[in-house]
Amino acid sequence: MGDGPLGYVSSMADDAELLMYDIDGSRAHVLMLEARRIIPRRDAGRILAALSRAEAGVPAGRAEDIHEALEAAVVRGAGRESGGRMHTGRSRNDQVALDMRMKVRDDTNAICGMALDLAGALVGVASAHKRTAMPLYTHMQQAQPGLLSHYMISQADALLRDEERLSGSYARTNKSPLGAGPAGGTAIPVDRAMVARLLGFDGIVENSLDAAGSRDFAAEYVSVLAIMMANLSRLAEDMVVWSTSEFGFVELADEFASPSSVMPQKKNPDVLELTRGRAGRVLGDLVAVISSYKGLASGYGRDLQEAKGAVFSATRIASGALPVLGSLVSTARFDRARMLEAAESGGITALDVSDALVRAGVPFRTTHGIAGSLSRLAHEAGVPVTGVGIREAGIAARGTGVDPRAVLGAARSATVEASLRARASAGSAGYSAQAGMVSSRRREIAARKRRLAVRSRRVAAAVSAMRKRARR
Ligand code: ARG
Repeated sequence: MGDGPLGYVSSMADDAELLMYDIDGSRAHVLMLEARRIIPRRDAGRILAALSRAEAGVPAGRAEDIHEALEAAVVRGAGRESGGRMHTGRSRNDQVALDMRMKVRDDTNAICGMALDLAGALVGVASAHKRTAMPLYTHMQQAQPGLLSHYMISQADALLRDEERLSGSYARTNKSPLGAGPAGGTAIPVDRAMVARLLGFDGIVENSLDAAGSRDFAAEYVSVLAIMMANLSRLAEDMVVWSTSEFGFVELADEFASPSSVMPQKKNPDVLELTRGRAGRVLGDLVAVISSYKGLASGYGRDLQEAKGAVFSATRIASGALPVLGSLVSTARFDRARMLEAAESGGITALDVSDALVRAGVPFRTTHGIAGSLSRLAHEAGVPVTGVGIREAGIAARGTGVDPRAVLGAARSATVEASLRARASAGSAGYSAQAGMVSSRRREIAARKRRLAVRSRRVAAAVSAMRKRARR
């Protein structure tokens, strides 16, 4: 970045990511200008040839952004008489809005693909652990017996929602703003629909003030990435806790952990910690995009330039996190014995004692009290709930009218294994729900990948046909 006012206003540092989009957007614009006889065929040909040469890069010179730099390169390459016609009927305002929409739609599709891959990796772990018992936590306190497959599917489902959000915002992003001019349109008879078609957009952003001056599509995109990174951060946090010596539920493959520089026994979960840390940065990117937007009067304002870097940063962070987490979970070694031991060690089946008595006809509030005193008594005696005797059952049942032998029976049978077998509700962490959830997620992921491929191919095919036409 240079010194003085030019350096200060320059967006060249961020604009490197936009060069290809600026070239393709310019090609489509010029093809339209020529087709509508707004510029002569000969000039169009020269401009298109210069645009192709610009693919190798354009010198920044005294340009304050990529749009100026590209136009200067075209004017140099095609001559002023021809090159000077490229910018007919457009403004940098609709031009940068176009570039950003093309970039965000590509990034959206790339992130969707990576999110589906990670969801697939999580479901893969789930499929291998449909009988791996573990404690489920609320408030980080043991709550109920669960299964590792169930946990993994919960994480995959959150990601699938993120992917669904991205697909929703894609539909709003993939509209062409070009032809909006600086704010109010142009007297040149441009064909906005044709440019949109050439570039693979699903239509135009109709109102020109809205088209040139809005970036809510970018805010929406980054907000979904921020939500997604928050989801990944929670996954990372669980795995950090599980990989401690105290938990010992999981051991990360060596390449996902770093040794300490001084303490040889340590295997630091740096990849997970960085995911947690970078989730904060994407949240910062969201704040940057929305705050550069919120105080802006209608129409383009230079503040919008500042939103670009934040959007690119969010993409870079998310597209780094998704694949690395996929390999991390796929290569992690889960310690079944440790997880089961943890599930069996405490009073985690108290709810099962209560449920068993409910099934025998006792009102839930009563069974809840019985299970509560039973857990307390078991804890005092230093035994699991399954280890209480008739004395404890009698104390727990006192004053409830429930037969102490029924209480004892419910307690004795409240093992982790029985708990996982008895779970009956849809989507539960019990054995019976797992296979169905795994296979339905697999089908869902495959269907979404097909839809994503169709959507991405449509854009790629349009752009490559447009480039071919530009070369002729
Ligand atoms: N560099 C600018 C940006 O990134 C491009 C648009 C400039 N338009 C203008 N009227 N100054 O937003």
